[in-house]
Amino acid sequence: MNAKEHLAEMDIRSDFPILDQTIGGQPLVYLDNAATTQKPRAVIAAISNYYLHDNANVHRGAHALADRATRDFEAARESLRALINARTSSEVIFTRGTTESINLVANGLTQQFKPGDEILITLLEHHANIVPWQMLAARTGAVLKACEITQSGDIDMESFRACLSPRTRLVAVGHVSNALGTINPIAEMIALAHDAGALVLIDGAQAIAHLPVNVQDLNCDFYAFSGHKMFGPTGIGVLYGKETLLDAMPPWQGGGEMIERVTIESSTWNSLPYKFEAGTPNMAGAVGLGAAVRYIAGLPREALLMAEDTLVQRTVSGLKQIAGVRLVGEPEHRLSAVSFLVDNSHPNDIGTLLDQQGIAVRTGHHCTMPLMARLGVPGTVRASFSLYNSQDDVDSLLRGVDKALTFL
Ligand SMILES: Cc1ncc(COP(=O)(O)O)c(C=O)c1O
Repeated sequence: MNAKEHLAEMDIRSDFPILDQTIGGQPLVYLDNAATTQKPRAVIAAISNYYLHDNANVHRGAHALADRATRDFEAARESLRALINARTSSEVIFTRGTTESINLVANGLTQQFKPGDEILITLLEHHANIVPWQMLAARTGAVLKACEITQSGDIDMESFRACLSPRTRLVAVGHVSNALGTINPIAEMIALAHDAGALVLIDGAQAIAHLPVNVQDLNCDFYAFSGHKMFGPTGIGVLYGKETLLDAMPPWQGGGEMIERVTIESSTWNSLPYKFEAGTPNMAGAVGLGAAVRYIAGLPREALLMAEDTLVQRTVSGLKQIAGVRLVGEPEHRLSAVSFLVDNSHPNDIGTLLDQQGIAVRTGHHCTMPLMARLGVPGTVRASFSLYNSQDDVDSLLRGVDKALTFL
């Protein structure tokens, strides 16, 4: 059986119990996956089993439950290492999510920045990949620059090249845009940034559930992502960093776990990854995320990506046929997210009219205010797809938008 036939045989949707419900009498059509994904039974069961059988504090207990909790917590770290092909699990730091991962790096690099150094981002970035760099710039006198995008919503590579200079110390770029779905040419961008002598952080929040990620092949210096956008629980995420760079960074939060020795006068730091994991970690979250990684590993990911692409293409061409609908961004390489506007209506009104038909989309600026300003729109309606969505979901959305238009 090839991967496509395998996929046709699988009933992935039934792995996600939350999808089996009605909203206002209509079957739920969940198209808000870029905000957060739903959780498969395997993840819910792993979290529940952890609390039913294994819960204890990790690393320091001298009893059976503590041993089991530690084993499961570290097994989750190892699953994540394998998922992104990090060289060692010391390079996989548990955080609360993408936002905390990026803040950790921005804090950790503070001492390496001096006035006039440059941080380069793009106009496509989520606020989580803008604001921590503004704060770093404010602390150090560094300058934050954003390269341009094209009319279609792709990164303008001419602008990116022009923005790089010997002063660029760091490039921070999203792997996939949450607002427009653009897949950025990060391999090329990482190589160009390294040629300019800069470090590179990739915000992988929107990529990790869809694309294979190999941090060693990419040669990125940091890669950040959130568990809840890849079928895992909230409150847990990952910062990958190259060991030498993490070793050179001071810890950013102090407390238990992250120390080796403490006197009243001073402390010495624990080894990686614990140096960056102060306090009791989110153990159930890690266990749930480990289960999410195992769940994904059991799926034909390439076939799923192709199926998702078919849904995106069907949505784009269907929306284009509805008079009054305007697509916002038509990137050359894209996945999952499709942004649009309907007539002169506010996106929130369209969101409400779709919600009344059981269709869950996101409306607003999607935490990308500079991008919205550049595009000259107040916000968009965004449908975003995941592996449990079907062509029926796309057709419901198209019918829903058509119907919404009759109310305007
Ligand atoms: C591209 C991107 N970066 C960062 C984030 C922040 O993720 P979190 O809120 O899980 O920290 C998001 C969330 O939507 C995102 O889409």
